[in-house]
Amino acid sequence: MQVADRLQKIPPYLFVTLRNKINKARAEGVDVINLGVGDPVDPTPQRVIDELCRQAQIPINHQYPIDEEKGMLTFRQEIARWYLKRYGVELNPDGEVLGLIGSKEGCHHFILGIVNPGDVVLMTDPGYPAYRASIYMASAEPYAMPMLAANDYFPDFDQIPPAILKRAKAMFLNYPNNPTGACATRAFFRKAVEFAKVHDIAICHDNPYSEIVFDGQERLSFLSAPGAKDVGIELNSLSKPYNMTGWRIGMAMGNKGILAALCKVKENTDSGIFNAIQYAAIEALRKEDGNIERMLKIYARRRELVLKTLEKVGLGFKPQKGTFYLWIPAPQGLNSIDFTTALFEKAAVVVAAGTAYGQHGEGYIRVSLTVPDKRLEEAMERIQKIF
Ligand SMILES: Cc1ncc(COP(=O)(O)O)c(C=O)c1O
Repeated sequence: MQVADRLQKIPPYLFVTLRNKINKARAEGVDVINLGVGDPVDPTPQRVIDELCRQAQIPINHQYPIDEEKGMLTFRQEIARWYLKRYGVELNPDGEVLGLIGSKEGCHHFILGIVNPGDVVLMTDPGYPAYRASIYMASAEPYAMPMLAANDYFPDFDQIPPAILKRAKAMFLNYPNNPTGACATRAFFRKAVEFAKVHDIAICHDNPYSEIVFDGQERLSFLSAPGAKDVGIELNSLSKPYNMTGWRIGMAMGNKGILAALCKVKENTDSGIFNAIQYAAIEALRKEDGNIERMLKIYARRRELVLKTLEKVGLGFKPQKGTFYLWIPAPQGLNSIDFTTALFEKAAVVVAAGTAYGQHGEGYIRVSLTVPDKRLEEAMERIQKIF
């Protein structure tokens, strides 16, 4: 049986590879601690679960979703209120907001809605691996913009060759950034809007970590930049702020034309989100700001523990201010894979190698803070021992 050529270009998904490695070790009796995946273990707020259960009892909710692929109007209205409250961004729920089955779905359908085969899509390196995969699935060509510590983890638009710029139709940006944790500035977003206008590039700013910030970092939406809605959209998600990764619910906001294209793809692909999940999401957006504050305190505590341990073993560094990841430089003389392998073999601690996010991730590993405190403490004790 034939498998599509376009799939050959996509490397195995990082977490599938990690999962296989972990399962094998666990089957051999090893007590593996997984700091490789960003998936909150803390539960979804009870009020949100209760609303899901209540709505699931109502037969009309068992039919195709209300307003289907757009997301129900009440959900879109709540998103618009949340964006105004959290980021000061005004949105028209009719045309400027769309419900999504997670921001990952939005990344993929954005590309399918915007680019033609052979077009170039700009993305950052290191970056979230799903961008590259979606670009290949649309038979387009990724162009990796290096995102380096030396440039405060911002891509340098001036370094993009003119021949690439001519063919570039879209661009992914993502701040707070996975994997580096870097946060954007208002000035950078303004620059990105200007750049997109000059070169007629559609921006997709993927912002699922917008609420996960530390050390006084401002929460920012790309859409707060003047003119952002003329050139782009922003994706967001309930996954991280409300511990709802498994629920698969998010949103896209911004440029009406881009959203209409995304919506047309969805109309022919997924038909929207289960009503009961949308009602539960409304409860979260309306009443669970407290969950965000609670989770930030938990992550801050875990972050401090990892940073202190690294300091003790001579690997201290200055962290970036966003996401529940730490982007940690490997010790002198070790590359990403060496360091990852050493932690796994000597301490049974799994971390993500920086190179899984692109060649410019070399020299780093990514540690996730979404594990229970006790397991993180145990992991840090093991790391201290091997150093
Ligand atoms: C940058 C980035 N975008 C999107 C996603 C997917 O989020 P969602 O659960 O909303 O699909 C993730 C998840 O880890 C991510 O890191």
